Amino acid sequence: MATSGSVTVTDADYLRILIHGTTAFELLRTGLEFGLFERLEESGGMDLPQVAAALGVREQPARVLLLGLTSLFLLEKQGEKYVNAPMTRRKLLRAGPRFLGELVDIQAKIINAGMADFAESVRRDTNVGLRHIDGPGTTLYERITAHPHLQEVFYANMGNASRKAFIQILDLYDFSAARHVIDIGGGDGTNSVELAKRYPKLEVTVFDQESVTELAAQRIADPDLRKRVHFHAGDLLTDALPEGADTILFFHIFEIWSLERNVELLRRCHAALPAGGVCLIYNFTSNDEGTGSMSAGLLSPYFLTLASGEGMVYSPDDMERAIRDAGFSRVDRYQNLGFSHALVVGHK
Ligand SMILES: C[S@@+](CC[C@H](N)C(=O)[O-])C[C@H]1O[C@@H](n2cnc3c(N)ncnc32)[C@H](O)[C@@H]1O
Repeated sequence: MATSGSVTVTDADYLRILIHGTTAFELLRTGLEFGLFERLEESGGMDLPQVAAALGVREQPARVLLLGLTSLFLLEKQGEKYVNAPMTRRKLLRAGPRFLGELVDIQAKIINAGMADFAESVRRDTNVGLRHIDGPGTTLYERITAHPHLQEVFYANMGNASRKAFIQILDLYDFSAARHVIDIGGGDGTNSVELAKRYPKLEVTVFDQESVTELAAQRIADPDLRKRVHFHAGDLLTDALPEGADTILFFHIFEIWSLERNVELLRRCHAALPAGGVCLIYNFTSNDEGTGSMSAGLLSPYFLTLASGEGMVYSPDDMERAIRDAGFSRVDRYQNLGFSHALVVGHK
C-alpha cells in the first residue's frame, strides 16, 4: 500500500523486492527510458491501448510493463486509466523537484554489472567489480577517464547529488572569513562554482585528475567565475596539494578511502593549511551505531566492489576521529543533515 511519503509492504513482498531487485530496477528504468511517466502526466492518464500506442509497442509488452510498475506502487489505476503515483511525480519526472534519473543512469551504465562481484570483493578485500571497466589505474575514477561517455554519466549524477547536498552547507557554514578554498577531488566543480557564486570575493581551486579538471573548466562560462575558479591537475594520493589556501573542502572523498588512508590524506591537508585554517569533511554518513541508514547500507558496497576497493559510508564518529588523528585540534560536528550527510570541520 502506498500513502503520501511511505509504502507499506508485507515481509514476503519486501523479500520479493530484494530477490527480484534486478527486475524491479529494470521495470523502473524501462519506464524512464520510454518516457512513460512524462507521457502519463501530460495526458492526464492513459488506458492500455493508449499507452501501447504512445510507446510504439504492442499491447502485450505494454501490459507487462504497466502491471509491474503498478505492482511496485509507481503507477496507480483509476478506472481503465494508468496515472503516476505521487512519489513518481516527485522523483521520476524530469521536471520534478527531486528527479532521480541520473542515479538510475549511473546504476545501469556503471555500477550494476560490477555489483555481481560483491561476494568476491568481500572475500578478497578489493574492488573485483572493476574488471568490467577497462582503462588505467585501480579505481573507478581513473578507469572512467578512458571512457568519456561514462565520465559524463558519472558527473551528471555526482554533480546533481552534490548540488542538492551543497545547498544545506551554504545555510550551515559561513565562509565569509575564507579567502582561498581548495576543493580536493573537486570533480566537475559543482561545489566550487556554487561556493564562488555565493561569495563574490572568494578564490577557489579545484584539485582533481587532469581530464576531470578539463571537464570542470569547460562548464564555466561566466567571466567572473572563470577568474576566481582555478584548476590544479594532479593525483591527490601522491602529488603535493596546491598551496596558499586557508580552507580545504574534502567533499565526497572520505567515503572513497580506508580510514588509515583518510588520516594520511587529512594530515597532508593539515600540513598545507596556515594556523587558523579549516578543513571541512562533508559526505554521506551511516549512523554511529552501524545499523543504517538504508542509503548508507546500500551505497557502501559500491565503494568496496567498484570505486576503490577500500571505502564505505562511514559514521560521524569515524570522521571526527580521523580529523583529530590527523592533527586538527578543534572539531565542530554537524550531523543528521538532509541527504544522510554530516559535516565535520577541523580547525588548525
Ligand atoms: C566522488 S567524486 C567527488 C566529487 C566532488 N568532490 C563532489 O563532492 O561532487 C570523487 C572525485 O575524486 C577524484 N579523485 C579520485 N581519486 C583521485 C586521485 N587519485 N587524484 C585526484 N583526484 C581523484 C575523482 O576524479 C572524483 O572527481
